[in-house]
Amino acid sequence: MTEGARELPHAVVDPARIPVERYFDEAFFRLECERLWPRVWQMACRLEQIPEVGDWVEYHNLGRSVIVVRTQAGVRAYHNACRHRGVPLVPEGSHGNARGQGFICPFHGWRWNLEGENTFVYGRHLFSQRQLDPADIALPACRVEEALGCAFINFDDQAPSLRECLGEVVDRLEAHGAANMRAEWWYATELPANWKIAMEAFMEGYHVMRTHPQLQRALPALYNQRYGHDTGGIGLPVNPNQTVRQNIAAQVRHFELLSEGMAGMVHAKEVEIIRQLADVPLPDDPETAIPQWFGIVQAEITRRLRERGEPVPDLNEVAVSHPVNAVEFLFPHYFLLPTFTSMSAYRIRPLAPERCLFEIWSLTHFPPGQEPPPVMAPRVLPHDSEAFPPIPRQDYSNIPAQQRGCHAGGFRFMRLAEQVEGLISNYQRIIDGYLRGVEPARLAAATRKLGGNFDGPVLELGL
Ligand code: FES
Ligand SMILES: [Fe+2]
Repeated sequence: MTEGARELPHAVVDPARIPVERYFDEAFFRLECERLWPRVWQMACRLEQIPEVGDWVEYHNLGRSVIVVRTQAGVRAYHNACRHRGVPLVPEGSHGNARGQGFICPFHGWRWNLEGENTFVYGRHLFSQRQLDPADIALPACRVEEALGCAFINFDDQAPSLRECLGEVVDRLEAHGAANMRAEWWYATELPANWKIAMEAFMEGYHVMRTHPQLQRALPALYNQRYGHDTGGIGLPVNPNQTVRQNIAAQVRHFELLSEGMAGMVHAKEVEIIRQLADVPLPDDPETAIPQWFGIVQAEITRRLRERGEPVPDLNEVAVSHPVNAVEFLFPHYFLLPTFTSMSAYRIRPLAPERCLFEIWSLTHFPPGQEPPPVMAPRVLPHDSEAFPPIPRQDYSNIPAQQRGCHAGGFRFMRLAEQVEGLISNYQRIIDGYLRGVEPARLAAATRKLGGNFDGPVLELGL
């Protein structure tokens, strides 16, 4: 533990015990606003939202707003405030195309082109020359990088690059085709919970048994091997007491349940292919047959979707070259759930110490030229809406309750299982690194360790 740790209120001192004040304390929240969020890579938009030159979307978090725009030279981002008297050039949550007129301030009508250069000042003669220095009235650029089919922004000009911060997880997800996926739908909801409570509900599979009992019931071997009495099992879950066909029926049911309303997690088109493979000839021994069946499933999903013209990766090849976890977390607020060729994506933004905005995308591939129009805005629902698919609805049922529980008498810390809830500790301690002002290269080195850490152990982070 370094010197500075003592000065940080509610720091994680015991890596398996997360102080509860971190989830509601106003001063701690303020520290995050000042020292964490302005220095990290944030998922700002999906690139399909800005396909043409001039297309732009606004992204904001904790009062800071940027315009992400496609220019001739690529994607750029600008801080969203007029250089005259500070009015945002575009409203929160808006999007449009600025190719013709550029960005026009709604207050006195100053204008900028896509490159951020000022092109018009109404009544120029009213200003002294130094007030209109072209470099000074250009829109200040914000860091932006493209990865995984998204634009990521960073308010910190000194921050290491996105890839240096996130590491190989980006390459692994790109090998799985993340860069050429498109959103089918996009939901948003406001949760009465600290942003970290919301994140942590997706950092382990240990909650499946009670929160998503339908999944546990469908494939008890999977969850029991990982979290239950039946420990030590690795690889594909097989129930040796059942026949091969019974094992396969359980797998199919499990995929159907993961797919129900979730599209991207396991897509209906993938479930349809899987169902058709329930009867393929296989050896009698389940331990041999089930891995073989999985290989066939992955090969057939690849083959049939490619036949339709979808640019999907070879699933059996990438399973070996770039294996991914059930959840892949990109510090601090974006994560993807890759199963076969489709993915669910989640983004969380803090709104207040005990409120956050939670978004879910369903992503999949389409044959080039047959993509649906880009989804430009989320469908916003109350967090307890019946319209949410069953899995997020089950997760959302715990999150606000857990936030209330944080205020209960005698509850002092989150008590983590060191071997499977380690990701919660690891990302929380990286947050502390930011709050303590640890140097960027060390923070990046620690953050890279989070790739593949879902259901993983508490790690030594070198902070
Ligand atoms: S504040 Fe933008 S033109 Fe005056
Ligand atoms: Fe869950």
